[in-house]
This record gives sequence, structure tokens and C-alpha cells, in this order.
Amino acid sequence: MHNFEFQNGTKIIFGKDTEQKVGQETVPFGKKILLHYGGGSINKSGLYAKVVASLTEQGIEIFELGGVVPNPRVSLVREGISLCKEHNIPFILAVGGGSVIDSAKAIAAGVKYDGDVWDFFTGDAHVGDCLPIGVILTIPAAGSESSAGTVITNEDGLYKRATGHPSMRPAFAILNPELTYSLPAYQTACGITDMIAHILERYFTNEMNVELTDRLCEATLRTIISNAQTVLTDPTNYHARAEIMWSGTIAHNDLLSTGRIGDWASHDIEHEISGIYDIAHGAGLAIIFPAWMKYVYKHDIHRFAQFAHRVWDVEIDLYDIEKTAKEGIKRFEQFLQSIGMPITLTEVEIDETHFKEMAKKATERWELGNFVKLKEEDVLQIFHLAK
Ligand code: NZQ
Ligand code: ZN
Repeated sequence: MHNFEFQNGTKIIFGKDTEQKVGQETVPFGKKILLHYGGGSINKSGLYAKVVASLTEQGIEIFELGGVVPNPRVSLVREGISLCKEHNIPFILAVGGGSVIDSAKAIAAGVKYDGDVWDFFTGDAHVGDCLPIGVILTIPAAGSESSAGTVITNEDGLYKRATGHPSMRPAFAILNPELTYSLPAYQTACGITDMIAHILERYFTNEMNVELTDRLCEATLRTIISNAQTVLTDPTNYHARAEIMWSGTIAHNDLLSTGRIGDWASHDIEHEISGIYDIAHGAGLAIIFPAWMKYVYKHDIHRFAQFAHRVWDVEIDLYDIEKTAKEGIKRFEQFLQSIGMPITLTEVEIDETHFKEMAKKATERWELGNFVKLKEEDVLQIFHLAK
């Protein structure tokens, strides 16, 4: 097991009606906030009105910045930074999904920096300090509600890049599974795929003797898989929505990273796709992750066979362990299809036009991955496997 330090200070407030506590959770951070949200789902669901009421009850002055789009853009982040600086706002409340939270995190970092916020994403500057942020989560997916990272797209060049710092972890995250009832099936499935991918990025490691986290990963994966069909066919099933929502946080709050080095190549490759084609991150992962698996499984067939056996109940064939490993990848693909995800680039109308450009962009800073190191040529081959 690898040495590790684990600290995740995000206070999780989970359950029915918990959004009503937002005023009292926010007020210790100041009497002025930036309320940050997306394209209108919170107005439609009535959440916006409830949040404003709870904040107003505590005498909190609200500055608003809506309009965050999926694959959030740096231009809106810059707007948010100006707003916070101009009005001396000490706290940001993100109400929405990963895109809103990531945009809030970038604003929180940019307010404390004199240069351009994009510097954090190119590596020209490092995040040191951030405004505190709070979250009301409306889609279980990205895990940003308690992660230390943010992913932002720069319209100039269509670069989608990540940065992070422990100070970016939200101070609190309110998780009410009922708020996810209004999610369209496709978004629900994208979220499920993303959380599975967060676990798999950690699961495929070269670290030995990580039995506890292997089994925590497998338990979380099995929980997601066993509740996936229920949330799609019965979207107001509280119990299933609750299992999925809590799994999304556990998948990415770094508990499952303890003692192991994760891979993360599939995420970096996917970011090139959603950066250029603006598809949902989860859909991009459904396409790239199986292709990555097919490209690398021979590196550690036993780990892939373990995945097949413990997560997908594939019987281990002691005479043909490769067959077991491959069957696990096949079952994973079948599961993704069963929840309505695409598993090829063709299904989302992406052809070879930008393969070379994306492979180059993905590897121009460093080789990707840790389980297997990938160069530009490897990434190109993965795109071809994903056709
Ligand atoms: O904008 P609104 O109108 O709110 O609509 C959103 C959006 O269109 C909608 N939605 C959210 N909650 C809803 C709802 N619609 C109906 N009812 C609800 N309750 O869903 C759409 C997608 O929202 P988005 O926030 O983009 O989804 P997600 O949470 O999947 O976030 C994706 C972003 O997170 C990044 C991804 O790259 C992507 O940009 N990631 C962030 C990570 C992190 N910071 O730790 C890690 C992840 O790996 C990921 O890369
Ligand atoms: Zn992800």
C-alpha cells in the first residue's frame, strides 16, 4: 500500500428537505454571497425560490450569476471573478451540477489571484487559496461537491483543462436525492457513467496490497449498477436515487484513492472530446473507457479478471484467464448500452477529423495515465478502437 494523507473537510448534509438548511449553513461565512447556477433547471423545479427564501431569512444579500453551461466556460468564470471583486463578496453558493460547482471553484480561486484565472489551467500559476464555497447538488455525477478539482473549457482553442487544490473542496454540500427526480434519463445515465469511471480510474492501479480499497471500490460499483435501472424506470424512487447520489460523492471524494495511485488517462482523453464536441462528459467516458480497457488489459490480466468476477459476476476460467478479463469488459459495455449510453464515437457522430489533434493536445504536457503510460500514438489508437 502506498503512503497517503487523507483529509476531506466537506460537510455533507444528506436527505429530504435539506436544502432548507442552506441559509443557516451559509451565514457563518458572511452576509453577502454570489449565487451561481446553470441554465434554468433550478427555476423550473422550484429550488431557486426555496434557496432565495432560506438565504433571505438569514439576512444574506444575494448577488446572482446564472447561465453556467455544461462544459463550463472560462468567460463566465471571469465575469464571476469581477463581480466578487467589485462587491467584495466572501462566499459562493453553487446550486447545480458539476459544471456549476466547477465554475464556482474557478471563480473562488480567481478572486484571490491578480493574474488571469486561465493561468491555473495551463500550469503557469498554482492555486494557493480560494474563497469558501457551498453546494446544493442537483445531479449526482462529477463528484465535484467534495472533490478538490475543477474542469473548465477555454473557448479560445477549445481547451478543456483541470486544476485543483485542497482549498477548493466545498465547505458544505447539501445532497437531497429528491432534487434529482427531475433529471432527464440521459443526464441520469451520464452521471452514473461518470461516477463509475471515477471508481475505475482508481481501481486500475499497479499498487499491490490494496485489498480494502479494492473492495470498497467494488462495493460502490455494485451499488451503482444495482440501482441504475431503478432510477431510470422509476425516477422518483427515493431509495434508489439516494444510493446513486451518495455513491457519486463516495466515488470521487478521494477515500477510494487511499493507498493507491489511480490512472486517469480515460478522463484526460475524454476531456479532449467534450472540449471540442461539447458532448456530455459521462457520454464521452462511456465511449473512451471500454476502448482504453481493450487497449491496456494485457498489462494486468489478473486485475481485469478480478474486476470481471467481483463486479460483473463472471465465473473465473482458470484455464483461460484472458477470456474472463475480456468478458468483464464486454459486460461493462453491455451495461452502458442498457442505460442508454453510446459506446462508440460513431453513435455521437464524431469521425476521424480531429483524432490527431486530440491525441496531440492530450499528450502535449505529459504522458497520460499511470496504470499504463500513454503517448500520442497510443491515444490515437484508443480513438480508433472507440470508432
Ligand atoms: O444548467 P441546468 O439548467 O441546471 O441543466 C443541467 C445541465 O444541462 C441539467 N441538470 C442538472 N440538475 C438537474 C438538471 N436538469 C433537471 N433536473 C436537475 N435536477 O443537467 C445538465 C448537466 O449538468 P452538468 O453540471 O454539466 O453535469 P455534471 O454534474 O455531469 O458535470 C459535468 C462537468 O463536470 C466535470 C466534467 O468534465 C463536466 O464539465 N467534471 C468535474 C470533476 C470535478 N470537478 O471533480 C470531475 C469529473 O470527472 C468531471 O470531469
Ligand atoms: Zn468524470
